[in-house]
Amino acid sequence: MSAALSADRFAGKTAIVTGAGSGIGRASAIRLAQEGATVVAADVVADRLSELVAEFPDLGFITVAGDVSSEETTRRIVESAGPRIDVLANMAGIMDDFSLAARSTTRPGGGCSG
Ligand SMILES: NC(=O)c1ccc[n+]([C@@H]2O[C@H](COP(=O)([O-])OP(=O)(O)OC[C@H]3O[C@@H](n4cnc5c(N)ncnc54)[C@H](O)[C@@H]3O)[C@@H](O)[C@H]2O)c1
Repeated sequence: MSAALSADRFAGKTAIVTGAGSGIGRASAIRLAQEGATVVAADVVADRLSELVAEFPDLGFITVAGDVSSEETTRRIVESAGPRIDVLANMAGIMDDFSLAARSTTRPGGGCSG
């Protein structure tokens, strides 16, 4: 079930979405823009941002290609957003199969399965 779209819920707001080229970030960027936000869409894969803009040319995405772990990229993202940032959706990351977590022997509270 998805909530009804409101065209002006984020009207006048500026949102930064990292990882906007795929998955959760892409979906968040689209939804925020559809609900009125000015969205700075950032991703390390430039082609994904081009595809996003090509698919949704009317949503006014401001795109920033680059690695968000670099200070240079984060500076460009913030500069692109302008004087005010209302929303930060930091979705950039690597979606793996969680196999490392499954192999972890650390337990909550600092215990260890040994
Ligand atoms: N999808 C899930 O069910 C799920 C569950 C728990 C946690 N997560 C975490 O949420 C995050 C996003 O998941 P997703 O499924 O949307 O992944 P995804 O792979 O579909 O999208 C991630 C996007 O982030 C971008 N990216 C990766 N590293 C970057 C960097 N250094 N700088 C800029 N962009 C970068 C990728 O290019 C990609 O477009 C991941 O960290 C993932 O581990 C996802």
